[in-house]
Amino acid sequence: MRILVLGGAGYIGSHTVYELIARGDEVIVVDNLETGHREAVHKDAIFYEGDIRDRAFVDFVFEKQKVDAVIHFAANSLVGESMENPLKYYDNNVCGTKVLLESMVAHGIDKIVFSSTAATYGEPERIPILETDKTEPTNTYGETKLSMEKMFKWTGRAHGLRFVSLRYFNACGADETGCIGEAHAPETHLIPLILQVPNGKRDYISIFGDTYPTKDGTCVRDYIHVTDLAAAHILAVKYLVDGGESNIFNLGNGVGFTVKEVIETARKVTGHEIPAKVEGIRAGDPAVLVASSEKARTVLGWNPVHNELEEIIASAWNWHKNHKDGYQ
Ligand code: UFG
Repeated sequence: MRILVLGGAGYIGSHTVYELIARGDEVIVVDNLETGHREAVHKDAIFYEGDIRDRAFVDFVFEKQKVDAVIHFAANSLVGESMENPLKYYDNNVCGTKVLLESMVAHGIDKIVFSSTAATYGEPERIPILETDKTEPTNTYGETKLSMEKMFKWTGRAHGLRFVSLRYFNACGADETGCIGEAHAPETHLIPLILQVPNGKRDYISIFGDTYPTKDGTCVRDYIHVTDLAAAHILAVKYLVDGGESNIFNLGNGVGFTVKEVIETARKVTGHEIPAKVEGIRAGDPAVLVASSEKARTVLGWNPVHNELEEIIASAWNWHKNHKDGYQ
């Protein structure tokens, strides 16, 4: 198949491109390189630098390239930034997707797999979280992703387009080749921040609060390997090609780890003592976020294989220790 990957130079996008190419698909990558990295684009992918808000550019790509389906990662994704600059998120995430959908409809492209988030749920009403649970985002990032899901739904009804929305929990780890990995600036995610300590770039890791109602007082998250996320996108494309109806799936391991457990596992993996300091809570952090991914397993046949936290952190460490400054 020929798959257009929007945001294919970013963290999860680049891993999905590697998986697609390994499985023999032809891949066209579009990325504006605002947060993505040219070095992360697989050498066998066709690459266009450009922005999905630019209708002429998106039309140009669809006219140049025959495309069977689109996988859409092109978005801003920092929760804190989304609260300080909400309109940046509406502009890129919501308005960008509107332009993309207009162009897809005009060119008769009717299948899209979309990168969504656990942040669409907000404070969960129960654990594990099901796709049918209420969606009340507590930040602009999650709100824009939910708006994008709804835009797909209504556009689909009007124009016959079908979509799969994949709501990720905590993406982490790196490709086993060691060629690509997580590289955000600024970095806000727990595992890469922890690994900055053994890399000599940080003296200690901050623990954001230890009085949550969890087993050791620190927040619980569902950490899922990026290569398993990539595999889910490919299964979702197959599901749509096989005639599946529009659908939404959670993607997580279904197992929660506390911040302290993640730090302890990183100590074991790296052999470094990794000093930690308890600090104040980060506003908006739910105590526990754990997915039920039963639906993805049953309907898509998804079976995450890198489900040991130690293995996940070891793969992240393999990337970070050799790329202390990311792709620079
Ligand atoms: N944390 C720390 N110290 C740090 C960084 C994080 O204690 O230096 C804690 C956070 O408070 C949180 C946990 O580690 O409890 C995980 O934090 P991350 O920032 O790695 O991930 P989040 O769970 O906040 O965010 C993830 C995704 C977001 C998504 C969100 C949904 O990365 O894209 O889940 O709630 F929006």
